[in-house]
Amino acid sequence: MELTYRPRRLRRTPALRSMVREHSLSAADFIYPLFVHEGDDVQPIGAMPGASRWSLAALTGEVQRAFDLGVRCIVLFPKVSESLKTEDGAECFNPEGLIPRAIRQIKQLVPEMAIMTDVALDPYNCDGHDGIVSEDGVVMNDETIALLCRQAVVQAEAGADLIGPSDMMDGRVGAIREALDDAGFEHVGIISYTAKYSSAYYGPFREALDSAPREAGKKPIPKNKDTYQMDPANAREAITEAQLDEQEGADIMMVKPGLAYLDIIHRLREESELPIAAYNVSGEYSMVKAAAERGWIDEKSVVLETLLSFKRAGADLILTYHACDAAAWLKGG
Ligand code: PBG
Repeated sequence: MELTYRPRRLRRTPALRSMVREHSLSAADFIYPLFVHEGDDVQPIGAMPGASRWSLAALTGEVQRAFDLGVRCIVLFPKVSESLKTEDGAECFNPEGLIPRAIRQIKQLVPEMAIMTDVALDPYNCDGHDGIVSEDGVVMNDETIALLCRQAVVQAEAGADLIGPSDMMDGRVGAIREALDDAGFEHVGIISYTAKYSSAYYGPFREALDSAPREAGKKPIPKNKDTYQMDPANAREAITEAQLDEQEGADIMMVKPGLAYLDIIHRLREESELPIAAYNVSGEYSMVKAAAERGWIDEKSVVLETLLSFKRAGADLILTYHACDAAAWLKGG
């Protein structure tokens, strides 16, 4: 055949392929989510093989391991004791709570690791919602924001580098920015869960923290988070959320989940000059783990291909439970 264009010419050898490769992964792209609990043991999480609830004592070892592999940021999630959960989730701004203690300890022992936090009430709230539920069963916006601001300031005081509001209340990025600035934390950044969808992919995470929405007492409790997390059918709405977050002072914007929402990552990349993060959430992680355990897919190849897809879509950063494995694989391990 007389073909002028033969794209296979540049695929012929590893050297040629490496020259024209458009995207790459690096351990510094990863943000590693870690679960912490009050107990002294390290508890494997059933629905997330390979992930654990760490004791405070064991947590720093895992953070150091991640740092040694080249990971430069972690995000902490607390499994709060049932006895500390209340209707208003007030434990979230206890300066002696699990998260502030974990932050202080990590900053002492692995000071160069950046720490991101999650701001929302669901791990602290007896009904599992990200905000306060009114007597008639409505997740209240403005009342919730007052608590989120206190939570953010307590996390900043403990030494957090990046505050991550995951609650999806309207106006929370601006309010948290103001609260941080007023408290003297103008240097602490906000990584906003900008386009967070109401997704079934969070199932294993809610099992890890025992934080799924549930009845608690007499109030009617919404069974899902559809009145604040975004409808999976919507794409344009993500642009609106992004515009608001930028105006309100977000430093980094996140899309969550990642894999089923690559189009949203791409759209935000085109709309904004801010760094974009993708959250490769618990359900995405567990699906890969389950198939790999059965020998149906090759875990390493599938994980690296998946993580690369976030970069290709336009993400700069990837929150992923695979962070340490992937970092080790990239090192040739
Ligand atoms: C809490 C929060 C959730 C996740 C991160 N922060 C769960 C939820 O919104 O119900 C999910 C993360 C994952 O599934 O990996 N607001």
